Formats: sequence, structure tokens, C-alpha cells
Amino acid sequence: MILLPHGEKVKSRQMKAWVEDRLMEMGCVRDTCLVAVGGGEILDLVGFVAATYCRGVPYVTFPTTLLAMTDAAIGGKTGIDIPGTKNLVGAFYPPRQVTIDTTVLQSLPEEELVSGLAETIKHALIASAPLFVFLEENLDAILGRENGTLLELVKKSVVIKKAIVEGDPYEKDQRRWLNLGHTIGHAIESLTTLRHGEAVALGLYWEGRLAVEMGLCSREVFERIASLLRRVPFALDLEISIDDLLERIQLDKKRMGEVTYFVGLKKIGEVEVIPLPEEVLRRCFAPSSQMIT
Ligand SMILES: NC(=O)c1ccc[n+]([C@@H]2O[C@H](COP(=O)([O-])OP(=O)(O)OC[C@H]3O[C@@H](n4cnc5c(N)ncnc54)[C@H](O)[C@@H]3O)[C@@H](O)[C@H]2O)c1
Ligand SMILES: [Zn+2]
Repeated sequence: MILLPHGEKVKSRQMKAWVEDRLMEMGCVRDTCLVAVGGGEILDLVGFVAATYCRGVPYVTFPTTLLAMTDAAIGGKTGIDIPGTKNLVGAFYPPRQVTIDTTVLQSLPEEELVSGLAETIKHALIASAPLFVFLEENLDAILGRENGTLLELVKKSVVIKKAIVEGDPYEKDQRRWLNLGHTIGHAIESLTTLRHGEAVALGLYWEGRLAVEMGLCSREVFERIASLLRRVPFALDLEISIDDLLERIQLDKKRMGEVTYFVGLKKIGEVEVIPLPEEVLRRCFAPSSQMIT
């Protein structure tokens, strides 16, 4: 067994090399199967080690956070961060099996549970109005960690992500829908110490407002989303300027070509990938210490 520390530093070149050295010392060769137990960071790292060790060995995963169960463990993306950017180096390398036991969520710190919840809200917004209603009706039981409800939530969320990634394994088309909330969310994440899911929650809110401003989505739909987000205890004590935000979004643009795209919400369960109109964002983005108002 190899024990890894927690925190984003796990997903580093150094840690990948360190794990490879341990595997070599343990005499692991091509018949090895790696078993990754942990949150998304461990899964991303171990999956990437598996992708290149001995030119690829099989691996299985036991995700232990809500985010890892509903998102990181599904879809075969593995990778590490390099200084200044996230997930730049990696591989599409799916595990042979994913085993989920939601009872492990009982020990998860609340902020991590809540962070995972943002991605399940995102799945509902992309593809499932019924999941959104389930979230509205069962949010208290979810936050109270009623295991039956958590299991139901994870199952519904996994079905959505699985269908999307199976239809587009290499992110050419509908897999890009999964970036809902992430164009602004990633920029916020890189400017703050927020967890990924917390930044995505803010991204969902501000991209939703942008969609209303563009006439893509009705104010009523947006209000329904905002009311659900307000009920989740996300850590939102921060202030960000629109100039900083746009600068970070531009950095992403450099990586992705001339036009920055974002996922525009049309209604609950329906989205469309469209260019991000920076001037509209500048007009509607009104930062305050309470970012979800
Ligand atoms: N590969 C993908 O498709 C994909 C998708 C989404 C996110 N990610 C990546 O996932 C990472 C975030 O993953 P995460 O949110 O699971 O965070 P994480 O892996 O950092 O885990 C969060 C914290 O919870 C602790 N923890 C884990 N399980 C626990 C449990 N059952 N009880 C108590 N504590 C527990 C961990 O030690 C850690 O301190 C990011 O690096 C992100 O880039 C990858
Ligand atoms: Zn995400």
C-alpha cells in the first residue's frame, strides 16, 4: 500500500515520479493492477500513473468524496497539475471498475460534501430537470447525510455523466456541456482559495445571470437555480474585480484558441456552447462579499 498526502500537491510531477519509484521498489510490473482509494486528487494521480507505468497497467477506483463519486471517477480523465495551471498534463485512461459506497461520505468534512454538490447541481442543469426537482425536494436530507438519499443522488448523477462521456469520450461535442459553470468557475478558483466545487457554484450562478442577460434563459428559471444555490452552505466570503476575472478568463482563451466559449443555460436540463460575450459579463457582474445574492 502507498499512502499519499491530501491536497492539490498530490497531483504533481514530483508525486507521480515518487509513486512510480515506490512501484518499482515493490517490484510491480505489467501484471500490476493499481487500486485508487480517495478523492478526485488521488484518482487523477493514480489514473495517470497507471496510464504510463509499464506503458499502461489496469487500475480500479474507490472514490471517497461526493465530487469523486459523481464526477472525477466517471469519464476516464486522469492528470496532474503543473505550476500555474490545472490538469494540463494527463491522459484519457478509464479504470476497469469504479466501486462506490456512499456510507464513506459520513466522515467527509461538510465543505467537501457541499463542494461535490455543486457538480451534481451542474449535472441536473445540463441534462435532467427531474434531478433538479430531486435536489430541491431532498436538499435537507442530502445535507443531513441520509445515506439512502445520498445513494439515490449519486446514482442519478452518475447516470448523467456516464451518458454524456460515453457519447463523446474525447470531448469534441456534448462533453463540453460539463463545463457549465466552469468558464467563470475556473477563473474564480484561480483567484481565490475556494475549493473547486465552491468556485463552480459561483460559476453556475454568474453564468446563469449572463444567460439571462443574453436573453437565453428566463429570469424565473434563473431564480429557481439561485434559490437552490442559496440553500447550500457554500463558502462565499470573497470579493473579485471584473478586470481580474476577465484576465483569468483570457488566460483560458490563450489555451483554447481565439474565442472563449461558455456553456449557456437555456432552461433546466438544456444548454448550448456559445461564445462568451465579455461586454455583457462586464455589465452584469457585480461582485460583493456575498457572491450569490
Ligand atoms: N478526472 C476528472 O474528470 C475530474 C473531474 C472533477 C474533478 N477532478 C479533480 O478532482 C480534484 C478534487 O477532488 P475532491 O473534491 O474529491 O477533493 P480531494 O481529493 O482533495 O479530497 C478532499 C479532501 O477530503 C478528504 N477525504 C476524502 N474522502 C474522505 C472521506 N470519505 N472522509 C473524510 N475525508 C475524506 C481528502 O483527504 C481531502 O483532504 C481536483 O483536483 C479536480 O481537478 C477531476
Ligand atoms: Zn468540475
